[in-house]
Amino acid sequence: MKRPDLKPEERIILALDFPEHEIALNWVETLKNKIRTFKVGPILFLNSGSEGLKEFSNLGVNVFLDLKFHDIPSTVEKTARQSVRFGANMFTIHTLGGFEMMKAVSDVVKEEAEKLSYPKPLVLGVTVLTSHDKKSLEQIGISTSTQDTVLNLAGLAEKACVDGLVCSGVEVEALRKEFGNRFTLVVPGIRPGTTNHDQKRVTTPAEAVSKGADYLVVGRAITEADNPEEVVDSIVLSIS
Ligand code: C5P
Repeated sequence: MKRPDLKPEERIILALDFPEHEIALNWVETLKNKIRTFKVGPILFLNSGSEGLKEFSNLGVNVFLDLKFHDIPSTVEKTARQSVRFGANMFTIHTLGGFEMMKAVSDVVKEEAEKLSYPKPLVLGVTVLTSHDKKSLEQIGISTSTQDTVLNLAGLAEKACVDGLVCSGVEVEALRKEFGNRFTLVVPGIRPGTTNHDQKRVTTPAEAVSKGADYLVVGRAITEADNPEEVVDSIVLSIS
């Protein structure tokens, strides 16, 4: 797997974390000339549904379905088929779901996309959420370092033929060292000098890209800004 060849403005993914479909549509319409990919997570999907995803796609943008599937292999396999049919360009599963689940997803996604003659979406494995730190991982019984946990999960994802990983900017360098260009790396927890909110392992856009990130997921730093377009422009400039 080769890393995508992206222009700076193609690296930003805007997280549409609002419950209202109309508000999300408005963000896509306003920013689609500056941002190519828009991320739909559970907050929006519970309102927008699959019809809403099609509406976003019809505006000519890429849709990242970020529902972080984590269930038994057969359930996630069927969910992955649905995600292909919804026309998602990329979607997430949890690497903590294990090898068997990830492998089942990689296999059916290829098959389903070929059957429907759709472009194959990127399957992204979420490693350790950017809101975790060492202490919160220990609370759930994970005592290895965050980096070792991420590398271990990435190793499983590699064997399961997963296309890319979601990780924090802090682990990008170690992942590139260990796996080269094998994965597309998608990095949330991006803070261009703004408040951290609930995120713990944060990086600036320039740090993440210089260490080897492909895509940057940005939400509140843009959507809660006084001038969102200005923030997008400054992120693009900082990674150009
Ligand atoms: O507003 P903010 O930039 O923190 O939003 C980050 C987005 O990335 C949210 O939609 C969150 O669900 C998502 N995400 C994350 N950490 C991960 C995976 C996804 O923050 N490991």
